[in-house]
Amino acid sequence: MKAVIKVGGSRAAWWKNHMSDLLPEMDVFLADEDYDRDDIEYAIVWLPEPGWLKTFPNLRCIVSIGAGIDHVLRDPELPQDVPIIRTTGTDLSVRMREYVSLHVLRLHRRLPEVEAAQSVREWRQIVEPPAHARKIGIMGLGNLGADCARTLATIGFDVAGWARSEKSIDGVTCFSGDKSRAEFLRRSEILVCMLPLTPATEGILNAELFAELPEGAKVINVARGQHLVEADLLQALDSGQIGAATLDVFHQEPLPDDHPFWDHPDILVTPHIASLIDPVAGGERIADNLKRFIVGETVEDLVTPGKGY
Ligand code: GLV
Repeated sequence: MKAVIKVGGSRAAWWKNHMSDLLPEMDVFLADEDYDRDDIEYAIVWLPEPGWLKTFPNLRCIVSIGAGIDHVLRDPELPQDVPIIRTTGTDLSVRMREYVSLHVLRLHRRLPEVEAAQSVREWRQIVEPPAHARKIGIMGLGNLGADCARTLATIGFDVAGWARSEKSIDGVTCFSGDKSRAEFLRRSEILVCMLPLTPATEGILNAELFAELPEGAKVINVARGQHLVEADLLQALDSGQIGAATLDVFHQEPLPDDHPFWDHPDILVTPHIASLIDPVAGGERIADNLKRFIVGETVEDLVTPGKGY
């Protein structure tokens, strides 16, 4: 059995060695090594370039090194019959939960203003309503979204969630579908985008959506840069319709040097770190998923064909 790994950057050799240890029966190659393309049955990838996966005629399975699979699906020449396995795991949800709680609390307690006051030695006591009087909206109630919604509800926030299909989560008011979108947005003082990136959600964070939020609402995007229309955000911040934004994902990553988000006073930029896959735990999850796939056992992370995420 042979597998090829495509990951960028300095960690490639580490991935190869780690996956070879975890899958001793598999010959593992890096994308730019020498191998016969006909022999490759498994491809483990982050951001494969369009057209690359179709060069392996005997591919049995594609593994996304990520919870998202949009970076695989964006390939117009993607082989259509090859199953895709995403990579999830407890680490991923724990990290996302930490990040989302941290940044919701930061905005809720207006920490940027407290820090600004400190920088001018001002003793500024900001008294905010308690969590139960703060309405949080989570867009996207997949594994990660549902987990964050539950966590924020446990902290005491008044949490609602919105998803394409109906969901039910203890302690969370769930909205679904286009018809209840406006009602969900109207109540969201802090909106967290945790949607999968699909043609239906691309550009969803736009002027029209911002106008439906309460004035001064705050936005957190931990999903994909392509969910956000960047110019619309800048304008909504200018007009005060949006009070602040915390962004972990961008159209172009790394965020270009001259991008206006870098020094915008109401934007916090973090470099796609909300929930990075831990290479050790992620590798184990990938190996476990592949072993199950190979012997025909159920793979929880297997993507439902045609669902698009
Ligand atoms: C990272 O953004 C992922 O999809 O896991």
